[in-house]
Parts: sequence; structure tokens; C-alpha cells
Amino acid sequence: MPITTCIFDAYGTLFDVAAAARIAAAGPAFPQLADTWPAVAEHWRQKQLQYTWLRAITDAHTDFWQVTQDGLDWALERNGLAGDAALRERLLALYWELQAYPEVPAMLHALKDAGMNTAVLSNGSPDMLNGAVQSAGIGHVLDDCLSVESVGIFKPDSRVYDLVGQRFGCAANEVLFVSSNGWDAAGASGYGFNTAWVNRAGEPVDRLPWAPQHMLNDLTGIPQLARA
Ligand code: LAC
Repeated sequence: MPITTCIFDAYGTLFDVAAAARIAAAGPAFPQLADTWPAVAEHWRQKQLQYTWLRAITDAHTDFWQVTQDGLDWALERNGLAGDAALRERLLALYWELQAYPEVPAMLHALKDAGMNTAVLSNGSPDMLNGAVQSAGIGHVLDDCLSVESVGIFKPDSRVYDLVGQRFGCAANEVLFVSSNGWDAAGASGYGFNTAWVNRAGEPVDRLPWAPQHMLNDLTGIPQLARA
């Protein structure tokens, strides 16, 4: 079945999640981040994701903004920065205006030129996604932003992936689902989507019952993959 619809994970896939800590560390205001920012960024992301999975399996849903704050609070304490209110506020503000990876606008333009449906499917709350899409200036090359908030559970629950067929009226095998999260690409493979894992860091494949079909270093090759 030809691909009609390209769906993108948001955080880490279109938007560089490490940018918040990196940018805050680059200015003079937060010298306490100079050495710690890579660990803060990594711990923040790890805890944010762990909290989504734990909340999903315990039926204790809250929105992604809450788990983003909870993950940051853990990461700050872990790195000896608990109680630094100005730093916390700055990092959270930067999370609302994450930059897209450099290849993202041209890649989305190419997909629209080829007549594809394009959308984000993310754990992010609608407000967060709107903020990131607006600040990256890519709203005009996306048909929609689908948020887990409409089903009240995080990825990789199948009800999240169901949102794509509900929105675009397409079969699962017409969808190319793109994620930088190996577990998300794997979950979407299990659901029946065609999948591409954007593995920028060269990480090992997750040991799960399903595997991504394609692996790329960045998003440049997505239009070609979708047309193949
Ligand atoms: C998202 C997270 C998983 O955007 O990166 O859904």
C-alpha cells in the first residue's frame, strides 16, 4: 500500500529536547549549568518518559506539562540544583520554544509537495505542541497536531495510534510513522504502521517484541522513504 500519511513524534524527533539545557548553559546567567547541562538534559528526559509509562500502566494520567515539570524537578535535585527557582523557570520557558532540527522545514515542504498528509502525534499537551510548532514556524506544512490528551493516556497505548486513522481516514499500512524514540517506533510497528526510527545518537535497538522497519541518522531521507 503506498504511503499517504506521514506522522511525526514531536519531542526529540522534530524538536531538539536537549536545546533547553544547552541554551540556558550557553548564556552568562546560569554558570551552575556549565558542566552539568548534559546530565540535567539526559536525566530530565529519562524521568519525563519514565513518568509517562508509569502513569499509563497505573491509570494515573496527568498531562505532559506536569510530567515535564516533575522530570525536571528530579533532574535538578539529582544534579545538586534543587531549589534553583530562576533556573527551573528558565528551563521550562525554553521548553515551550524548542527549535526544530535544521532539516525539518524542507523535509515537511517536500512531503506536502508530494501530496502527503502530515501531522504530529505526541504525548505533548495541545498548548505545548502549539507553542513549539509556532516557534519553529512549521504550522503551514503540518495538517494537524494530534495530542494524547484527546484519549487521556500516553504512548505507546494503541488508543494514541488510533488517532491517526480517525483523523485522516487511512489504513495503518498507509502511514509512515517517524520517531526518534526507539520504543515509540517499535510500538508503532506493533500497531501496524510503517515506521522509521531517527537514531541520531547511534543507540542500540530496543529489545522489544517489535522493531522499527527503517533506521535513519536524521530526517533528510523521509520524503524519499515515503515515496518508495
Ligand atoms: C512525544 C514524546 C514521546 O512527543 O517525545 O510524544
